[in-house]
Amino acid sequence: MHVDLLRAATPGCARRVHLNNAGAALLSQPTLDAMTGHLRLEAEIGGYEAAGAARDAIDDTYAAVAELVGGRADEIALFDNATHAWNAAFYSVPLGPGDRILTGRAEYGSNVLAYLQVAQRTGAEVIVVPNDDYGQLDTVALADLIDDRTKVIGVTHVPTSGGLVNPAAEVGRIAREAGALFLLDATQSVGQFPVDVGILGADMLTGAGRKFLRGPRGTGFLWIRSEVLERLDPFVAEIRSATWDGDRGFTWVDGAARFASWENSYVNLLGLGAAVRQALDLGLDVIGRRTSMLGGELRDGLDALPGVRTHDLGEVRCAIVTASVDGVPAADVAAHLARSSVNVTTTVPEHTQFDTEDRGVHPLVRFSPHYYNTGDELDRAIESVAAMTR
Ligand SMILES: Cc1ncc(COP(=O)(O)O)c(C=O)c1O
Repeated sequence: MHVDLLRAATPGCARRVHLNNAGAALLSQPTLDAMTGHLRLEAEIGGYEAAGAARDAIDDTYAAVAELVGGRADEIALFDNATHAWNAAFYSVPLGPGDRILTGRAEYGSNVLAYLQVAQRTGAEVIVVPNDDYGQLDTVALADLIDDRTKVIGVTHVPTSGGLVNPAAEVGRIAREAGALFLLDATQSVGQFPVDVGILGADMLTGAGRKFLRGPRGTGFLWIRSEVLERLDPFVAEIRSATWDGDRGFTWVDGAARFASWENSYVNLLGLGAAVRQALDLGLDVIGRRTSMLGGELRDGLDALPGVRTHDLGEVRCAIVTASVDGVPAADVAAHLARSSVNVTTTVPEHTQFDTEDRGVHPLVRFSPHYYNTGDELDRAIESVAAMTR
């Protein structure tokens, strides 16, 4: 990987040490060009006409996202964020009294809120699978908890609040054996390391464009295995997702488009396509090796500082690194780093409430390097934290 070239093609690298890729990564120049070029075209010839002219590139976005996760283009629906993509999948799962939704303790807040709402509405039950000794979803406990009441298993691959990588492939194997639907929230994992629906055994997978994929804000996607389409009841019928057959009849369109809606930001969609193509060209395995190495280096560097501790769980850890500084609130650490042009953020206790209840460590400072960060940048961040402890 030619990190210097990749940095030169990333305008933000000249201004900031950007360690907030779990929030939103820096756009590359080619992605920026794809977006500004289309915006200009819309202004010059009209929005619908510009979409017509960009048809091939628009189609390629679906193909690129499909290739990214190992699926087919007709299994992809695009959204304005990962939550809407996830909602389209989850709210389409038919549930009734006594049915069970199984999830883990690292589940993202919005997902848990949806489980709770649907449980209240339908009489389904939400069962939270405990963690194992590594602090990741306990797959033995999951297998024990599954029975024929289990209709869906919803798991967050990498939580918003730490470096944990949940054992998704094993969850997929267990779900498949039990005949339960497996909905994987891959918002923090896509673009960070290889995520393949065949290997993971997911039935539905969601992601955001703006995080490790380096796409624009306001983008998200759903991949849905074509074989499970008929087990789902899409929750919004509209002119993209369904056809009005005349009189009182309607038919869902084929494929994942039955979860989509008519209007899109084609500027954002083309930016997402450009970003995903860039990730595919670099190779997700190459990206994954570098992000994991940078995460490990940062974790070791922070742990070596007196009064500083990292808090990431799991047998496998990724590029998200969470840390605390004794006696200093996380927000103050983040503000101190910001004064040195180091972008980080802090975890929000309510966003991963189960983990907050388990460990009581949040808010933490969250560092999330990407492949374009350098060892020197990590040293600068570590030095800046060290300066606070002296
Ligand atoms: C694990 C996880 N899932 C879902 C989301 C929601 O993504 P979005 O903000 O694009 O809806 C986030 C956002 O941080 C996340 O970290």
